[in-house]
Amino acid sequence: ALRIIYTDTYQNMSKEAAKILAGQLWVKPDSVLGLATGSTPVELYQNLVWLHEAVGLDFSEATSFNLDEYVGLPEDDPQSYHRFMHENLFDHVNIRKDHIFFPNGMAKDADAEAARYEAAIAAAGGIDMQLLGIGRNAHIGFNEPGEAFARTTHKVVLKKSTIEANSRFFSSPDEVPREAMSMGIGTIFHARHIVLMASGAEKAEAVRDAVCGTITPRVPASILQLHPQVTLIVDREAGALL
Ligand code: GLP
Repeated sequence: ALRIIYTDTYQNMSKEAAKILAGQLWVKPDSVLGLATGSTPVELYQNLVWLHEAVGLDFSEATSFNLDEYVGLPEDDPQSYHRFMHENLFDHVNIRKDHIFFPNGMAKDADAEAARYEAAIAAAGGIDMQLLGIGRNAHIGFNEPGEAFARTTHKVVLKKSTIEANSRFFSSPDEVPREAMSMGIGTIFHARHIVLMASGAEKAEAVRDAVCGTITPRVPASILQLHPQVTLIVDREAGALL
């Protein structure tokens, strides 16, 4: 079942998402969170940092698994998702370093790395709450539109449109890695609660297709229609076609 929270602005979308994540941590301090990168969750993370500083939101027992990582960027590369998460959240809250997990984009054996990541998630007890953004082509994580829904963590080849969309964080599209390691649709689907955020007019069609369209791997986020507990938070522009 899908619950939709309509908000007017990016700021309020971020606040609503922060309340849900903070609530999760209050109810279950040892929650396993699945976290996302991209511009969409930036202000959500600012809200969580504020809640940590102002009211003691506690991450000391929490565990985090990120959705994806670029292939070929070392952890400390300014464009790596590892760096992004540390700069935007982890360096500012009391999460334990040994509770932070990413797929390793530098792994020589992608299949072995994928298996390691799946095993780590399973060993942590599975993901309690998975945060997602959505790509303009309705990708989630880096699961691009395709012929089938990927079940587990795997190496993906990025679509040209995704490379272009993400090139705004790089000095040129040539610098955007061509591949990534991503949780599979199945990995995401195993999360007990999924929180999907979307902001801005360029996401409106993807949101409409995901929520109201046919369930098909050509619209990766459409699988979320089958999940028992999804909360979609949109701002006015992203929700305009619902
Ligand atoms: C990237 C990430 C996704 C993210 C998407 C949208 O490709 N792998 O996890 O949801 O982009 O990004 P943004 O929030 O910047 O629009």
